[in-house]
Parts: sequence; C-alpha cells; structure tokens
Amino acid sequence: MQTKFITKVFPEGQNRLTAQLLLPVDCVILPLPHTPSDTQTRLPKQLEKLDQLLDGAIDSAISGKDFTGKVGETYLLSQQKSWKLKGIHAKRVLLVGLGEHTKVSDKTTENKLLTEYSKAARAALRVVMGTQSSSILWLLEQDLELKKESLHSLVIRQTIQLVEEATYRFGLRFKQFKTKPMEAPISLKSITLATTQKMEKQLKEFVRIGVAVAQGMSLSKDLGNLPPNYCTPSYLAKTAQSVGKEHALKVQVLERKEMEQLGMGAFLAVTQGSDHPPKFIIMHHLGGASKEAPIVIVGKGITFDTGGISLKPGEGMDEMKYDMCGAASVLGTMQAIAQMKLKKNVIGVIPTCENMPSGKATRPGDIVVTMSGQTVEILNTDAEGRLILCDALTYVERFRPKAVIDIATLTGACVIALGHVHTGLFSKNEHLVKALQHAGQATLDTVWHMPMDDAYQDQLKSNFADFANIGGRPAGSITAACYLSRFTHAYDWAHLDIAGTAWKSGAAKGATGRPVPLLTEYLMKE
Ligand code: BES
Ligand code: MN
Ligand code: ZN
Repeated sequence: MQTKFITKVFPEGQNRLTAQLLLPVDCVILPLPHTPSDTQTRLPKQLEKLDQLLDGAIDSAISGKDFTGKVGETYLLSQQKSWKLKGIHAKRVLLVGLGEHTKVSDKTTENKLLTEYSKAARAALRVVMGTQSSSILWLLEQDLELKKESLHSLVIRQTIQLVEEATYRFGLRFKQFKTKPMEAPISLKSITLATTQKMEKQLKEFVRIGVAVAQGMSLSKDLGNLPPNYCTPSYLAKTAQSVGKEHALKVQVLERKEMEQLGMGAFLAVTQGSDHPPKFIIMHHLGGASKEAPIVIVGKGITFDTGGISLKPGEGMDEMKYDMCGAASVLGTMQAIAQMKLKKNVIGVIPTCENMPSGKATRPGDIVVTMSGQTVEILNTDAEGRLILCDALTYVERFRPKAVIDIATLTGACVIALGHVHTGLFSKNEHLVKALQHAGQATLDTVWHMPMDDAYQDQLKSNFADFANIGGRPAGSITAACYLSRFTHAYDWAHLDIAGTAWKSGAAKGATGRPVPLLTEYLMKE
C-alpha cells in the first residue's frame, strides 16, 4: 500500500473544524449523520460555523435534499472564490452520509455501526478516487462514538483496509503482466487523520496495526492473483523466506525427502503427478514468553488444482490458481503480526504442491498411509486439500499448540451453502467458535458456524481402508471437515472453509485478502 497515513492534532473547541479546513489538502472527507426530512432541523452546532465558512453550502444541500445523510450518500463541494478569501485551503469538501446515529451498546450494534461506516467510507473513496485527489483529510469525529477505544481501533482499521481495497492494483509489487503498463498509479498519496493531543498516541498505534493488516491483505491478494506458472510451491517458499527475513520470523522449508521420512503419505500422493517439487513451510513468530504454547495456523497451498485424474471440467478452471488462498492468508497474517510485533507465539504452517494428472498421478482407488498411521482410500483425487492438510495437522502436534486453525479453499459445497458472504467455520470447541465469531464481526470478515455432528462421519466409510477421502454430495463441506477432524484429537481445533470468500469471480475477478483481518483480530485478542 502506497498511501501514507498521517495523524495530526487539531486544537479542541469551537474553531476545530475551521482549523481543519485551513489544511491545504485536495479533499476533506466529512462524514455526517442522517438529517430527518420531515423536521425543519437546524444544523448541528459544530457544523454551523463550517456552514458559514462554506457560504451556506451545507445548509442548502441539506434543505434542498441534495444531501440527506443516508448511508453511503455523497455530496461534493468544490473550492469557490469566496473560500479562498476566507483562507480555506482545502480544494474540496466531500460530505458523506453515515445514516441514523447508532448507539453502540453491544456486539450487534457495534457490527451495525461498522457495516454502515464501511459502506459510507467505500462510497467516499469512490468519489475521491474519481476526483484524482492525492491528499485527503479524513474527519472521523462526527457521530462515530470513537471515545470507545476498541471501536476507535476497529474504525481506523476498517478505514485503512478500505483504502487498500480502493487503491490495490495487481502487479504493482511483483511484475507487470501486461505489456502496456497498467493504468496510472494510484493517486491517493496521503491521508491525514485528525485527532486531539490526548488521543494522538493511541491513534498512531491503531494506524500502525491497521497498516500491518492492510499490507498483509495486500500480500495475500498478490499471491492469490499471481498466475499458477509463477506462483509455484517453490515461489511460496521463497516468499515465506523473504517475509521472514524482512520481519524477523524463523522460516523452515521441508523438502520431499523429509516429508517421506515423516511418513506424509497423503500429502505425497497429491503432489506425485506434478513436476514442481512440493514444499512444507513452517514460519515461527515467537513474540510471547518462551514457555507459552503457540497458536498454529495451517493454510492449504494447492498452487493449481486440476482435480488430478478426477479431472475438473475446463470451464473456469483458471480460478483453481486461487486454491492456495489458505496459504496466502497464512503468509499475510504472519507478516501482519510480525510487522505489528504481536506479543504472542504463533506458528504458520503451509503444505504446498500442485494437483496434476499424469502417468505418475494418484488414481481413484489408491490407498495411502497418512502421517498419523491411519489409512485412506482416495476415491476422488479432486478431494486433495484434505489430503495435504491431514498430514500437516498431524505434523503440528509437535508444537503442543494452544489451538490450531486451518484455512482452506476446501469445498465447492461450502460456496453452495454460504455463498460469498461468510466463511464456513467448523469446530466443536465452544471457545474457539465464539472467539472466531467475534473476530469476524469486529473486522466484517465474518464466519458462519456450521454443524459437524458425528452422524456425518458415517459418510466417510470405506470397505478397504480406515476411511475414504470423500463422503458423497450431501453436506460436502461438513464431511470434508469431518475428515480433517480425525487428525486433530491432540489439540483444540477449528477449520475455516474460505472457498466462497477468498476470491471474486466475473468482471471483478481477484483475491479478497480474506480472512487476514479475521485471523489477525483473533490472534490479537486470544
Ligand atoms: N479446491 C476445490 C474446492 C473448490 C471448488 C473451491 C470450487 C472453490 C470453488 C477442492 O479441492 C475440490 O475440488 N473439492 C471437491 C471435493 C469433492 C471431490 C468431494 C469439490 O468441492 O467438488
Ligand atoms: Mn480439488
Ligand atoms: Zn482444491
């Protein structure tokens, strides 16, 4: 992200808004609450002064119903001669509707406020980007209950994430994949956040965290969007190593030989049709006490999923380059927590390979021995994510983790169940479920708790091995989670199926950076 976030103290009191408008920026973003249409309400006190300065522009926009303050509504005022006379240096003032005031009293109202704020901020950014404004003063003080510290932090994080979303362009970081350079680089150079003497230190801290999360998302998106002939298992391993170097993480990469010695029969069965060597990446962030048990996050890293011998249909198969988005979210999250110097022990684990058909590929019907010793009949080579994850889930037992969360673009069935709104959350651990639900609500990177009763386990029965790797079409995302659960008895565990939320299809095709915000918030709070 190239936009710089600057905090600036303005004196409290009557002349605060006036002082803010004197700042020579291209645009001031001024979020305002809804004004009911039936009442002849006068402008709020703090706006009266501003309205005078702007020659009554705000009052006339409101009374003429050009601006009513509905969520996401925008109204752009531009520099007039008279503004100059009064010494106003801002070139534009953008009014943005926040909707009716939400009093935050619990998680539900907090979520409502954040959702509405994010809609408003997104709309504001669209207008601002259209005007080619490069310096912004973002006034967050109206109506947002920012005195609540936790909410203030979430609003700032949301703002920075939306700026990242609005300015993200694929290829800027790594390589230009179009021969003609992509559209002119992003215009948003700086965003100033107004604050008070008392709050500045805290705001700076919130910005630091917000920028770390946004940059983690951006890394995660870049990796997802990279074509599969570039983003290979080796490329992911190299990226992990360079992230490690930059942010002081210990990174280990296991090669095929070591996986063989460990007995990762299921993982090796998936990679065996590919000419690219598999990698098993381990990233250690040791920010906590040396005796503190780590939280482990495990990301599915299939750099391309053809389905293997159970070949997928051709249409839309290119999107299976996104089958490493779990891995990308682990990399993005590890970078974010390392950059913010989180005082916790967190280990990121990424089993990564390609799923290809070939003369050497695994066949439907093959039986393999997993690292856990349990045998699996591979009835469908396209159910490969669970095969690489199960060995990774056994491997991480050695860390005696406090909790393990795996993140995977695991099943098309999860997309059918939840669409592109919520990530599927599977866990029988009440504490983990609550913690992840809260983290999702706080960051608007939401999850939905799915059932995982033992009754579903029956669908995995095999006549020839301990169990099969598929459970038929009914409840496909649940039986996938049930399969994984058989490898997680040594610790508290949750599984996130991000098949519907990790990327967008169609005209807006691209990775979303989810669930980096969810994971970082969870890790910060846990
Ligand atoms: N990577 C896919 C899941 C996927 C498919 C995610 C489409 C997003 C969009 C996974 O490896 C897969 O192929 N799963 C199969 C499982 C089935 C064979 C039991 C699926 O969902 O069809
Ligand atoms: Mn597959
Ligand atoms: Zn897959």
